[in-house]
Amino acid sequence: MYRKVKGFRDIFGSEAAAWERVERAFRDTFHTFSFSEFVLPVLERTEVFNRGIGSTTDIVEKEMFAFEDRDGTQVALRPEGTASIVRAYVENKLFNPPEVKKYFYMGPMFRRERPQKGRFRQFFQAGVEVFGTSAPALDAEVIHLLDTLAVNAGIGDMVTMEINSIGCPACRPGYQEKLLNYLREHSSELCEDCVRRLDRNPMRILDCKNEKCKGVTSEAPVMLDHLCGDCVEHFDNVKEYLDDFGVEYSVNKMMVRGLDYYVRTAFEMVTTSLGSQNAVGAGGRYDGLVKLLGGPEIPGIGFALGIDRFVSLLMLKEEVEEQKADVFVIAFKDVSDRKAVQLLRWFREKGIKTLMDYDMRAMKKQMKKADQSGARFTLILGEDELEKGEVSVKDMHSGGQELVQIDKITDYISDKLG
Ligand code: HAM
Repeated sequence: MYRKVKGFRDIFGSEAAAWERVERAFRDTFHTFSFSEFVLPVLERTEVFNRGIGSTTDIVEKEMFAFEDRDGTQVALRPEGTASIVRAYVENKLFNPPEVKKYFYMGPMFRRERPQKGRFRQFFQAGVEVFGTSAPALDAEVIHLLDTLAVNAGIGDMVTMEINSIGCPACRPGYQEKLLNYLREHSSELCEDCVRRLDRNPMRILDCKNEKCKGVTSEAPVMLDHLCGDCVEHFDNVKEYLDDFGVEYSVNKMMVRGLDYYVRTAFEMVTTSLGSQNAVGAGGRYDGLVKLLGGPEIPGIGFALGIDRFVSLLMLKEEVEEQKADVFVIAFKDVSDRKAVQLLRWFREKGIKTLMDYDMRAMKKQMKKADQSGARFTLILGEDELEKGEVSVKDMHSGGQELVQIDKITDYISDKLG
């Protein structure tokens, strides 16, 4: 017997049913906000992620499924969608004509993290990316969209939104200098990982979950107090528009993101219901990324949410049932099997969910199956009924049974189903 690869998983049964519900809510919501779908490759040149996400990030340093293809090309299974879509945006010259482009995507991502509850090596994201404007109203709209996705997927009451501004190339270097000075003074109190981060990526230390480091960083200078005038104005505007969109949020001064491309607005949707994996969705502005990956200077913003985590939250709240048939057809071999197949076709042409047991065993066994299937109606195609051009219809809710003309049966069931 073979077993699945560590960190990868199978999704079926009620989880798949919840998955389908959530994905459908996502698609509807994306369309309401006027986003178009972008289907991206799962494999990219490794360089796209090294440059896009940043060479000192956890993802690039230790989490990519990267390998050399048979022709010597260095490739990686995508750990996220943003660098990928920026590559596609530049390669397909989607900046011509210069207008705002709003895309959404859904699909698997791959990170070789330590698997634990809510954290997998193949997980699924739904995300959006918008190119072409740095207007703060867009930041607010994108955050509003993430919020709306949670509401429409049925988990709005289980999540909260946190926002922050992490500055721009004008104000961040000065702040980083201050932060570094402070952290160096306290380096003996930091964990091993953070000592290493000091020279490479000091802002990430603010995100460390180690209690000792938290003690140090609680007193550290924060970016929000060192923003330049433009960043302050941008952040103030974003907050005003969020109020207008009716989004509830709190400002988390300690939030830094684990990917290097962010500037200004950063946000995370968090939950207290999933243990330590508390982020269900996150994103931010990345105004320099298109240029970094070889395109013109075009601003962008987006987010991605964890579908696995959304589904886990929904399943904590309610049991999502698998789809049930409307009609179960009982037929008998060499008597009514061909008529039954014809009925299946008629029903399905009308979009009525229909099912039969092709093994066509004894009536009692088939009745039991019909019962288990949860179908609303069971049709019995017995020899006597068939001779009279009729079918026996049992209403599985009321238990009542009646005879209906076969050529009227689809209309009869449609009416009953309303
Ligand atoms: P991220 O914060 O790395 O951002 O991931 C976004 C979401 O993906 C997380 O909040 C979490 O729900 C889910 N996620 C991440 N890793 C795992 C995992 N190992 N298992 C299960 N779920 C996971 C990004 O990926 C950015 N590309 C978001 C973005 C888009 N920023 C701008 N545009």
